[in-house]
Amino acid sequence: MKDFLSIADLSREEILELIEMAIDLKKKRKTGKESELLKNKSLAMIFEKSSTRTRVSFEVGMTDFGGHALYLNPKDIQIGRGETVEDTARTLSRYVHGIIARVYSHETVAKLAEYATVPVINALSDIEHPCQIIADFMTIVEYKGKLEGLKFAWIGDGNNVCQSAMLGCALVGMEFSAACPDGFKPDEAFVEKARELGGKITITDKPEEAAKDADVIYTDVWVSMGDEAEKEKRFKVFEGYQVNDELLALAKPDVIVEHCLPAHRGEEISAEVMDGPHSVVFDEAENRLHAHKAIILKLMA
Ligand code: CP
Ligand code: NVA
Repeated sequence: MKDFLSIADLSREEILELIEMAIDLKKKRKTGKESELLKNKSLAMIFEKSSTRTRVSFEVGMTDFGGHALYLNPKDIQIGRGETVEDTARTLSRYVHGIIARVYSHETVAKLAEYATVPVINALSDIEHPCQIIADFMTIVEYKGKLEGLKFAWIGDGNNVCQSAMLGCALVGMEFSAACPDGFKPDEAFVEKARELGGKITITDKPEEAAKDADVIYTDVWVSMGDEAEKEKRFKVFEGYQVNDELLALAKPDVIVEHCLPAHRGEEISAEVMDGPHSVVFDEAENRLHAHKAIILKLMA
């Protein structure tokens, strides 16, 4: 495996291996027993969109391993003045040992991967956010001790994170139930793919149905990066899709609540739930670091 563009680039065994590596790296970081596993290696990070967690965790991860990360704003590099993605990929491959890219169009990261001779990692595109899922599943393992057999409920927008989560659930044997309004359900091709992978997938428009007996409830913003023009329409459509105490009451008593963050309290999630006892969102955010370290180690070491 050269690149990591979709969660479905991984097998069930590879997802579990990354989670195990990440849990081990987390322990090592806390006990100061890390080694410089990527010493003198460099990672180029292209971000067409904003990022706090992804950018900082990959950069700190490279530092932890004795390597170096370069943040590349497309406005500052020649890609912003029309140099092709292909030539950028070819050029960067002569300098660095890996590239991560957060892009508007998934085609951009796919093209980078096609033309780069070094590993390319999808740091979020319009259709997937695979790195996020490794950290999310790692957090579930920490709290529940397993993945297989659990019920994972997605509430809200059937977006990039949702699509990766659905494929990931299918791969690891978690039941996936998404409640999304019409017009905002995950792409049918992704649903089909998840079912082909053996996933037990339910797509409904009723949050109560998805949340019923769930072990994990997950939500994300109603307005993703790139969807800003639809903001007003989305706020109307997603009314009733908030993760709040009422919805949580339908889930298992020990349900955990995940959110990839950034969150908007009072919109997709109530402040009570976001800051309440079921929320594991900051463990999840921390685990981005350990998960990303496992990913770069697997692809770049
Ligand atoms: N969840 C996530 O990818 O966060 P950032 O946008 O801050 O990287
Ligand atoms: N769905 C969100 C996730 C942000 C991490 C977005 O694409 O903006």
